[in-house]
Amino acid sequence: MEKPTRYIPALSFKWLTPLYDPLLKWVMREETFKSKLIQQANIQPRMKVLDLGCGTGTLTLMLKRAHPTAEVTGMDGDSQVLDIARDKSRGTSIQWDEGLASSLAYPDSVFDRVVTSLVIHHLVTDDKRRAFKEIYRVLKPNGELHILDFGAPHSSLTRFMTTYMRRLEEVVDNFDGKIPLFVTEAGFSEVKEAQHFVTVFGPLSMLRAVKGD
Ligand SMILES: C[S@@+](CC[C@H](N)C(=O)[O-])C[C@H]1O[C@@H](n2cnc3c(N)ncnc32)[C@H](O)[C@@H]1O
Repeated sequence: MEKPTRYIPALSFKWLTPLYDPLLKWVMREETFKSKLIQQANIQPRMKVLDLGCGTGTLTLMLKRAHPTAEVTGMDGDSQVLDIARDKSRGTSIQWDEGLASSLAYPDSVFDRVVTSLVIHHLVTDDKRRAFKEIYRVLKPNGELHILDFGAPHSSLTRFMTTYMRRLEEVVDNFDGKIPLFVTEAGFSEVKEAQHFVTVFGPLSMLRAVKGD
């Protein structure tokens, strides 16, 4: 698998990866946001669900626990995080795949839901666009995409909070509110920000989009 020209691991540097789970748990209240994303995804029995950029697999595991009959796949471009995910998920039937968001190794129309959490802001603009086209391709008709990631600020305080994070070039599309536009361009309909939150790192947004039939 050929890595894109710029690949950003979970905490930007591979040597920080072991700190990812404690940081998300204690500083970012990840369970709160991830539970809301699972609720929003409205997963039905035996659905096929892809967690794109699953990292250490926390959301993937939460999904499987909440929906034991769902066929859950966690996919990430970094073998180091996938090793942690496999370790955390012993005894479950989750499938773990190494792959890139911009060229998914799945056939057309296979998933009922694609969820993705805190991944899109890691991708350069062209890869964001390619990833949404790929997600559209692998979703079944009427399948849904649910995104949790940084989004446009909703107040002057959150706008101010984004000033520091804007140094990370890839997140600027998120703060500029471009993610819903890229999702629409990829062919999705009913693209909507369902909820938004404020975290210490900036404003988070939950988007829902549908692949029309
Ligand atoms: C901040 S972590 C989020 C992990 C997990 N989804 C979560 O919410 O905790 C971002 C993840 O995206 C993955 N990633 C970055 N670029 C990627 C790409 N082009 N294709 C697939 N995964 C990618 C990284 O390896 C990392 O695990």
